[in-house]
Amino acid sequence: MRLKNKIALVTGAAGGIGSAVARRFAQEGATVIVSDINREGSEKVLDEIRTGGGAGAIMLADVLKEDEIVALFERIKKEYGRLDILASIAGTDVENDTSVDEISYDKMSLNIDVSLKSCIMSCREASKIMMPQNYGRIVNMSSIVYRGSPMQFTYSAAKGGVAAFTRSMALALGMYNITVNALAPALVEVDMIKNILGPEMWEALKQDCSSRYPLGRVGQPLDVANCALFLASDEASFITGQIIEISGGARL
Ligand SMILES: NC(=O)c1ccc[n+]([C@@H]2O[C@H](COP(=O)([O-])OP(=O)(O)OC[C@H]3O[C@@H](n4cnc5c(N)ncnc54)[C@H](O)[C@@H]3O)[C@@H](O)[C@H]2O)c1
Repeated sequence: MRLKNKIALVTGAAGGIGSAVARRFAQEGATVIVSDINREGSEKVLDEIRTGGGAGAIMLADVLKEDEIVALFERIKKEYGRLDILASIAGTDVENDTSVDEISYDKMSLNIDVSLKSCIMSCREASKIMMPQNYGRIVNMSSIVYRGSPMQFTYSAAKGGVAAFTRSMALALGMYNITVNALAPALVEVDMIKNILGPEMWEALKQDCSSRYPLGRVGQPLDVANCALFLASDEASFITGQIIEISGGARL
């Protein structure tokens, strides 16, 4: 077991990618704190973890709210006494396919709040626990569009911010034996995107991306979860400050 006796927090753990990360961590022996705003989805994930023989708990928190993030980490410290792994996965894109002259202030703010500020606040709180214990593995969620996107201006800016913040954290926290890396997936097949697009548009997008990605398919949540597991494990103890593209070779 690669994460035996580790305490891991996964935010966005009720979602397509977050739930795969939570299940994968639990399969490898971690006690997984399932955190999200979606109670029903979180309960389903914890059930799956327990059915698979794993252990965990639900701690709901809205990552748009600083006080809820602070309370989440304080509760973890109180109940477990430590935190070994943070996978900061929560996020969404509320401003897709908007032209540059139509960027909305409110949607931009929400994209930056939910992807970037939430990541910064979660890392701040995690570092307060991890620095004194001289151990930590932080896995943040960027996106392949951190390189830029003509369809996702404000989301790509937020995910670019996650990439830059990840590198800054890695520079500062290496001396405490804390690694900080980020995942940068291309299109990953999750229900959220399929539900928004509907079956026809989803199939068209999937075909288009599959034809452009060198490996000839879009990503699956497990592709991302396997990478998160590696970065969270001691096998990756000499890797920090990296933005790992899980992209089937897209954008090479
Ligand atoms: N699916 C993709 O193609 C893709 C590609 C690159 C990056 N990402 C990123 O991966 C992460 C997970 O996305 P996903 O595709 O699994 O989508 P998803 O919608 O299935 O999962 C996102 C989860 O985050 C939770 N969440 C949203 N706002 C929250 C808040 N304020 N507080 C707490 N939880 C909140 C949602 O309830 C949901 O469970 C996101 O950060 C997303 O930007 C996704």
